[in-house]
Amino acid sequence: MPVKYSKKTEQFHLYNDQVSYIFHVLPTGVLGHVYYGQRLPLDRDYTYQKSHMNHVLKVFTADDESLISYEDTLQELPVYGRGDFREEALRIHYRDGSMMNQFLYRGHEVVQGVIIDTSVLPQSMPNNKDEATTLIVTLKDDYRKVTIEMFYTIYEKLPVITRRMKVINNDTATIAVDKCASLNLDFSEANYSLMKFDGAWARERHVAVSDLPMGMTSFGSTKGNSSANHNPNYILLQEGADEDQGCVYGLSLIYSGNFEASLEINQYHQLRAQIGINPSGFNWQVEPGCSFLTPEAVMTYSNSGLSGLSKANHSFIKCHILPKDHRKEAQVLINNWEATYFDFDEATIIDLAAEAKELGANLFVLDDGWFVGRKDDYRALGDWFVDEQKLPNGIRHLSDEIHKMGLDFGLWIEPEMINLESKLYEQHPEWVVGHSKYSMSVGRHQYLLDFSNPEVVDYIHKHISSILREANVDYVKWDMNRVCSEPNSMTLKPENQGEFGHRFILGVYDLYKRLTSEFNQVTFESCASGGARFDLGMLAYAVQTWTSDNTDPVERLSIQTGTSYLYPLKSMGSHVSAKVNHQTLRKTSLLYKSHVAIFGTYGLELDVRHMEEKDKKLMREQIALFKAYKNLIHEGDFYRLISPFTPNGTNHNNLVSWMVVDQGQEEVLVGVYQTLAKPSPNIQRLYLKGLDKEAVYREQLTQKTYSGIELMTLGYILDDFFTGIFSEMPGGNKENQPRFGHGDFTSKLIMLTKVK
Ligand code: GLA
Repeated sequence: MPVKYSKKTEQFHLYNDQVSYIFHVLPTGVLGHVYYGQRLPLDRDYTYQKSHMNHVLKVFTADDESLISYEDTLQELPVYGRGDFREEALRIHYRDGSMMNQFLYRGHEVVQGVIIDTSVLPQSMPNNKDEATTLIVTLKDDYRKVTIEMFYTIYEKLPVITRRMKVINNDTATIAVDKCASLNLDFSEANYSLMKFDGAWARERHVAVSDLPMGMTSFGSTKGNSSANHNPNYILLQEGADEDQGCVYGLSLIYSGNFEASLEINQYHQLRAQIGINPSGFNWQVEPGCSFLTPEAVMTYSNSGLSGLSKANHSFIKCHILPKDHRKEAQVLINNWEATYFDFDEATIIDLAAEAKELGANLFVLDDGWFVGRKDDYRALGDWFVDEQKLPNGIRHLSDEIHKMGLDFGLWIEPEMINLESKLYEQHPEWVVGHSKYSMSVGRHQYLLDFSNPEVVDYIHKHISSILREANVDYVKWDMNRVCSEPNSMTLKPENQGEFGHRFILGVYDLYKRLTSEFNQVTFESCASGGARFDLGMLAYAVQTWTSDNTDPVERLSIQTGTSYLYPLKSMGSHVSAKVNHQTLRKTSLLYKSHVAIFGTYGLELDVRHMEEKDKKLMREQIALFKAYKNLIHEGDFYRLISPFTPNGTNHNNLVSWMVVDQGQEEVLVGVYQTLAKPSPNIQRLYLKGLDKEAVYREQLTQKTYSGIELMTLGYILDDFFTGIFSEMPGGNKENQPRFGHGDFTSKLIMLTKVK
């Protein structure tokens, strides 16, 4: 069992080949943290490691300055008001109005596998019990009659430990949990910089790196979803760490609602890192005999820099987060949104599908606009019945026609939403999120349904499951196009209003659980105006996420690079859209777009009916190429060779390059992208990664051979860039064009195979 406990020293050591996580019971009975990082020898006692010093004017646990002061003691569960003075991980209000408590060690248990929560909160899951071990440490406050269970799950083959906490009320009065972080991780030093993933609509997960100041740094979401503004995730880079080397820690939350990440450096230059449900507006009433369980947080460690960290994140998500029971791997899809928006009928859809099939697509997705009265985005959300004006023969007929073509059929839904102009609102105005005495803010002309009310979830489940059954779907795109304001339920009891945000997302998970269980052969893709809910909570139910509404490849280079630190390529929805992009109006070639989209799930989102024959030929080739390389792209190891972000995360590099290599180091695919042509550049080289040093690789296009070590150290020389020789001009050598580097928005894929 990868948990070693010493009765003598009361030290816990969680370990596998890659990491050690060590804590112990302090003389006071509180849990003290010792170490997290590279694997350490097992037979040692590390409890001598102290973090506290006898500074003047500190408060101590007793009148003896050789004793403990929580002010600078590293801890596992710092609580409010006990002389720590830093951010607490747990804050509870008790019946006497006080927030005082003290949770002391009372015992522990080690179990094989994970503790499966019977509720709907998503969690990580081993494929069999041997892949993970869980340590449950029990702490109690005897006066309060409250028990805390701390769960630590270590995965055997990955540098990953997950954490959760349960608050159990054994008292006869209700307690109110005001804050309950999923994890608290104390570091004895503060020499870390913070990498986080920030953005907005159409600009999701841009990399931001900053130094941490003294005091508190916090970010999160109060929007009801994890949001496009900050991902529920951050990385700490120890001084000197970078893409390929050094010690980095990734902390993330398996949660899709309001979250808070906080980092605090105290006066002794120690760092405290937390992540959990956002305490803003949160208050959970735990009745006698009941408990509250936090979402699970994930800690990933790498001593080979950010590329090692993303590799571990990708493996963890692929093995232990993504649902396993959907029928097929990602299909090459065509989605009609940017081809037609709301303006379609059955004939248009059939034509689009037929063209897409001819190009090589396998799945047709009917986006927004198929339900009754939905002629624009002002109306009809909530009424999940087919629009017989657009589709007079019904949804089943359309689905059958598409299936007959040999394509799968997918449907767009937005279950959490309602328009005031809808039958549902006429019947149930009290089901809208808000307060009956105040006006409600509106976003995209729509409102949220109160998913904290199980009656609402039941109703939506009934209607959505019925339409999915009728439509015989193979794929569902689940959207969420507005954030939550006026977070108030018209049906929750007054004392439970502080639970609204968490209950809302539990309602969403409940619906996901019911639909994904019934339609367990169906691929679910989550979406929230693009990538505003790209998080581990969603990925536990939906195997892929629409990465961004922005399909401009230049923008996608940044969005997909940022996303790649956290999430695997097989979860990143990526489509080829029209040459003139609908979001930025930037014009780029289909080839450039395809080369970017290939590093994801790959699909089409354009009107393929009106394409020129040469473009159709190109798309046929590109789709075939994606299919040939899909397994490598989705299951191989991904590396960022050149990021669009400079190390401080602000300016954009002009050249970007990604690569994947399979675990056997046999097959390699490199993508390289130039944004703007620059005159008289230097020779550009790509330094490949993760290859077999000894092996010889052959480049598919040129048949040239290179050794692995050569490609990684001397580099792969790119074509001549803009040199002033205009091959495109009259008299120029036209045979060589188009060439990478000649002109704006050019790209190239390099395929290499190990020579046996
Ligand atoms: C959101 C999605 C889009 C599309 C529209 C439909 O913006 O992100 O892909 O589905 O909704 O209304």
